[in-house]
Amino acid sequence: MERHIQIFLNKLSFVSIAIATVTLFFLFLQTPETCVDPTSSSTHPKPHHKFPKSTCEISHRSFTSLEKRNRRLWSTKTWSNTISSYSSIFLSLQTFNFLSNHSKTLVLSAGPGHAVMSLNQLGVADVTGVELIDSPPLVSRADPHNLPFFDNVFDLGFSAHLDLALFPNRYVREMERTVRVGGVCVVVVQECGDGEVKEIVKLFQKSKFVGAKNVTLIGAKMTRIIMKITSPS
Ligand SMILES: *[C@@H]1O[C@H](CO)[C@@H](O)[C@H](O)[C@H]1NC(C)=O
Ligand SMILES: *[C@@H]1O[C@H](CO)[C@@H](O)[C@H](O)[C@H]1NC(C)=O
Repeated sequence: MERHIQIFLNKLSFVSIAIATVTLFFLFLQTPETCVDPTSSSTHPKPHHKFPKSTCEISHRSFTSLEKRNRRLWSTKTWSNTISSYSSIFLSLQTFNFLSNHSKTLVLSAGPGHAVMSLNQLGVADVTGVELIDSPPLVSRADPHNLPFFDNVFDLGFSAHLDLALFPNRYVREMERTVRVGGVCVVVVQECGDGEVKEIVKLFQKSKFVGAKNVTLIGAKMTRIIMKITSPS
């Protein structure tokens, strides 16, 4: 009687193990349903598939095609003109010692990464670019209104798109929070008069005004404003 039960239990556990193994195997083979195949979204673009991206999509992205696309983009005339236009702005920051090769630099609303590459080419090694849509390897995905960085970690914060920010107050607050005391925030906005410069300066609650200058960026008349962080976050 007991031997019978023993044999029965042995069979039962063997069957259970077999079922579990097969189940695990199928689970392993299946792609999670939350993953969106990027190739299918290109034929039927759906807005919610474009942003936010799932983490699985990154692993699906072919590295070689990304590299190829970047090489093509970076070799265009428009790209190199834009890089050199940014360079002239950064060179003047270097001249006045607001920027050095060792500056830990944050670029907000970095787009496809012009400013990031420009800084790298000037010799600034530690540059972080963020934008709502990432452009690897130059730009990571992050909301400038809600930066995923600790307080006081950067020496320089740069943005050429403050005037496009949805919530300028919050945008500036995040910039000031992540840049250390003694560091600088540099914003380039559409060319504006002294009154408008004052309005922009007022957004900065922890910094003092250093200077404003009319500059040209990618052929457009702009005003570059420098603020120095004076009180800690
Ligand atoms: C910064 O880096 C660039 C490129 O590596 C180099 O040419 C330049 O001399 C460096 N500047 C300083 C001040 O070290
Ligand atoms: C920039 O140009 C505007 C006129 O286009 C002028 O009102 C303003 O004073 C200039 N700003 C600076 C800092 O020179």
